[in-house]
Amino acid sequence: MKPIEVASGIFNVGVVDWNIRDFHGYSTENGTTYNAYLIVDEKVALVDTVKKGFEDQLLENIADIIDPKEIDYVISNHTEMDHSGGLPRVMHKIGEDKPLYVSKMGFKNHSLHFSQKWNYHGVENGEELSLGKRTLTFLETKMLHWPDSMFTYVKEDKLLFSSDAFGQHYAGPEKFDDEIGDAVFPYAKKYFANILLLYTMKIEKLVETVTDLGLEFNIICPDHGIIWRKDPAKIIEAYVKWSGHKPKKKAVVIYDTMWHSTEAMAEKIAEGIAEEGVDVKPFNLRKWHRSDIMIDVMDAKAIVIGSPTLNNNLFPTVIDFLTYMKGLKPRNKIGAAFGSYGWSGESVKLINKEFEAMKVDLADEGLRIQYVPDDQGADACVTLGRKIGKAVLETS
Ligand code: FEO
Repeated sequence: MKPIEVASGIFNVGVVDWNIRDFHGYSTENGTTYNAYLIVDEKVALVDTVKKGFEDQLLENIADIIDPKEIDYVISNHTEMDHSGGLPRVMHKIGEDKPLYVSKMGFKNHSLHFSQKWNYHGVENGEELSLGKRTLTFLETKMLHWPDSMFTYVKEDKLLFSSDAFGQHYAGPEKFDDEIGDAVFPYAKKYFANILLLYTMKIEKLVETVTDLGLEFNIICPDHGIIWRKDPAKIIEAYVKWSGHKPKKKAVVIYDTMWHSTEAMAEKIAEGIAEEGVDVKPFNLRKWHRSDIMIDVMDAKAIVIGSPTLNNNLFPTVIDFLTYMKGLKPRNKIGAAFGSYGWSGESVKLINKEFEAMKVDLADEGLRIQYVPDDQGADACVTLGRKIGKAVLETS
């Protein structure tokens, strides 16, 4: 990717990672980008770097605009290695003594990630740095999504460097919201569901703070994906909506199966839910990636989980998914468990335990069927589905 001018004198000098398909357990079927920004003013600042392995391209992009040695300040909004992994090469190239601006927690975290003793400047929330015509303001955004995270705001341009927030794992020919249109929202929603869902209270608080401060945004520049310049309010509104945890009249049936019995149960339960007029989507865990399922979990009212019992335990893919979902802390859900078993049949009990840990209210104690569901078993599944469907209608 060649440098792209985002505003007068401000360039995206980041890179495209076309081929990444697994971003620490999140499926990135369209790759991603590591955006980094160069601000050329009386002083020159670089905001964030790129993932290790992409530094040459970053430095070439910078060199298309200025000699990298002319960079006066480096700002690292976030320690995670997809944005800071390029720091050692960049600092080596531009001068190891150049000031490196980080949040207070960023100072701690960078010091733990890197052995180099750089010229760190741990900023206070609201601290400013003048580049000449422009002033940068650093805004602490603790736990959005790491303790060290911060935003950098350019008040003269009303431009926000938002680190991971408002980003999307998307690599394509489009670089701005006006070029891609609403087609970017499924990527933004997936990003939110898998990275930010557990921090929604922090997001609501941040939006309140920003509103109180009267900050306006003409351009939002995240570190992944497209830049919001046509209608930045639209992604902020989407974040506010998603942070509200307001489920739709919708259910997801997530399961794995050994010999198709739990699958047969899933299909009948889904049939019962649909009979009540509730949208339902079944997900076989061996066909769907956990990070894609989370998009639907985010706005479903009912989470229905099915697992065979394997060696007195849950099926491994179901454990994987429950662990992942629990960490993301979905709220305002009802749940129900089901599963086929041979002789001991612990799966329903174990899923219910996970529901309890996630504060998911049970729509039913769950349904176990030994071996293969017969007609009576199939009817019981439909009945369970109808009960879940009714509960969705009553509670959403
Ligand atoms: Fe894109 Fe939290 O790193």
